[in-house]
Amino acid sequence: MSKEKIILTGDRPTGKLHVGHYVGSLRRRVELQNSGEFDKIYIMIADAQALTDNADNPAKVRNNIMEVALDYLSAGLDPEKSNLFIQSQVNELTEMSFYYMNLVTVSRLQRNPTVKSEIQMRNFEASIPVGFFTYPISQAADITAFKATTVPVGEDQMPMIEQTREIVRKFNSVYGEVLVEPDILLPGNDACKRLPGIDGKAKMSKSLGNCIYLSEEPDEIKKKVMSMYTDPDHILITDPGKLEGNTVFTYLDAFAKDEHFAEFLPDYKNLDELKEHYTRGGLGDVKVKKFLNNVLQSELAPIRERRKEFEKNIDYVYEVLKKGSEVAKNTAANTLSEIKSAMKIDYFDNDDFINEQREKFN
Ligand code: TRP
Repeated sequence: MSKEKIILTGDRPTGKLHVGHYVGSLRRRVELQNSGEFDKIYIMIADAQALTDNADNPAKVRNNIMEVALDYLSAGLDPEKSNLFIQSQVNELTEMSFYYMNLVTVSRLQRNPTVKSEIQMRNFEASIPVGFFTYPISQAADITAFKATTVPVGEDQMPMIEQTREIVRKFNSVYGEVLVEPDILLPGNDACKRLPGIDGKAKMSKSLGNCIYLSEEPDEIKKKVMSMYTDPDHILITDPGKLEGNTVFTYLDAFAKDEHFAEFLPDYKNLDELKEHYTRGGLGDVKVKKFLNNVLQSELAPIRERRKEFEKNIDYVYEVLKKGSEVAKNTAANTLSEIKSAMKIDYFDNDDFINEQREKFN
């Protein structure tokens, strides 16, 4: 089997992307794209998956397709290098999911920790939509349809990749080697893996109102940074401060580079020096927050500016998604026909079936 290096990843279009998405995956995708190390890159807007828990709100999903596409392009994904597409337009994926369902047990799905916690968060305990319950299988279709070798995602997606790998192994052992086992590519540091909301709560989420969006305006960014949760026991500037659970420092871990110190806070060479002063005492929260604000402003300004340009050119974005979806559909169709041939349900694709039947009935 040819061993091309292929990326597939994506996001559910349920809102604009926030800085958690950015450090958790989007920034990395852009780096991987520009590294030139990958033969193919597919970035998917997972609208079908978004519908698994928004079945009664299709308008929300539809309205966020463009928002996510704009976030992708403004973050630096380049349609010349990365194929952007919409999941529902590649109907081959649903067909694959149906066959993969035969390879997964209900109890296996019930053990998926991410799905478990999502069920709790959505109060689905009493009645889980089957589509939602089985979305890890559909995610396996997303990944395997493109023979992805590498899936750059956040830590919460680990169970999906594990489920995909199991499906691949099972499929290949039952039907023959067709599918490729993907590897997960996690964000570099812990802060990027799980960027908390500005209130310090574990997850940044629209419903908790604790997000900083990628396209956030400068004054909003500043307001949010200045209101961030820090160390509640750090009352006087002279008090020693704590870093654990201190959201401002978690964000700095995710965003700050040495260049930012040279530019905005030259009294310190790097984040280690700043942390050392903070824990020793004598460094106030406001100073650290002002620095974080500068860092975020400088990181997000170019993204926001590019977004404004793309917003003026929405027909172009539409064409990118339309063409990308066609390309994705072709690729998925090729894999699907390999799958159907391995599963011996390719009756009309060649003469094997009719020849067998002639033999049998003659
Ligand atoms: N589950 C992912 C999320 O919630 C979105 C997604 C759907 C995805 N299919 C995928 C991610 C395949 C990586 C690979 O963000």
